[in-house]
Amino acid sequence: MKNTRGIILAGGSGSRLFPLTSIYSKQLLAVYDKPMIYYPLSTLMLSGVRELLIISTPEMLKWYRLLFKDGKHLGLDIKYAEQKEPKGIAEALIIGKDFIKKDNVMLILGDNIFYGDFTEMRKAKEKNENATIFAYYVKDPERYGIIEFDGKDNAKNIIEKPKNHVSNYAVVGLYIYDSDSPRIAMSLNPSKRGELEISDLNNVYLKRRELQVVKLGRGFAWLDTGTPESLLDASNFIGTIESRQSLKVGCIEEISLRMGFLPYSKYKKLVLGYPDSEYKNYLMNIMRDIKIKEDI
Ligand code: TTP
Repeated sequence: MKNTRGIILAGGSGSRLFPLTSIYSKQLLAVYDKPMIYYPLSTLMLSGVRELLIISTPEMLKWYRLLFKDGKHLGLDIKYAEQKEPKGIAEALIIGKDFIKKDNVMLILGDNIFYGDFTEMRKAKEKNENATIFAYYVKDPERYGIIEFDGKDNAKNIIEKPKNHVSNYAVVGLYIYDSDSPRIAMSLNPSKRGELEISDLNNVYLKRRELQVVKLGRGFAWLDTGTPESLLDASNFIGTIESRQSLKVGCIEEISLRMGFLPYSKYKKLVLGYPDSEYKNYLMNIMRDIKIKEDI
């Protein structure tokens, strides 16, 4: 099985969230009790990815470096790279070319939140040969990259923000590609809006019959956080789940421990160094839970 590295694309202009984003990066804004980027990071971690590249704007990259450092305290290996201007999602693969090398890559958008059972993602990552995208049923297909299917339910085309109805299946901001993807991204022409479109890249794989489409089931939640309303909805969603279950969503320290990225001793040292807070109390309780199991 090929190794898979992860890229989190956390640049962009965040114009729809102005003035929240006038001096600050969208993916560092709060979603309930943690910075937004914790959620896409946890999606990659739960899919079993530990080598990561965070891409952001030249001005904002320093905040991500301060937040995650080299990732070793989380059992991760995190590198950073700049995207000078928001020239499109597919540009992440060009920026990440030397990071991807001969491995596969799982690319996630820094403002996409997934909640559910990640078995599908893990399976897709293990199975991926060339390219895998994930589809989610939405009510407003005119806002997304939409998959057109033929009579046998095979993907036929991907259309960016279609004016006429083709289907309700949107391509979510999580993609798995082989090491050919940077080369394909370099061959794309910018679209009318001046961006290297990820839909164009997906269509190249589709035409080569090398694109797998995995439909995410109804038990899955996919939230994006690009507008004030959707940002508030995401906070409320996470808050509701967390208070009902007393379990956190997107808690990267807990995931490191449960995934075996961090040994118990390092986790304990990390958590004891945190300031007194509800977050620290939660992590301490998890520690006790797992220690009790280890003692049995
Ligand atoms: P968008 O939501 O399409 O763009 P945006 O974040 O700049 O917001 P707005 O439309 O309000 O101006 O981007 C989706 C995600 O991809 C988001 O996390 C930002 C990221 N992104 C980049 O980092 N670089 C890019 O060139 C593009 C197009 C997006």
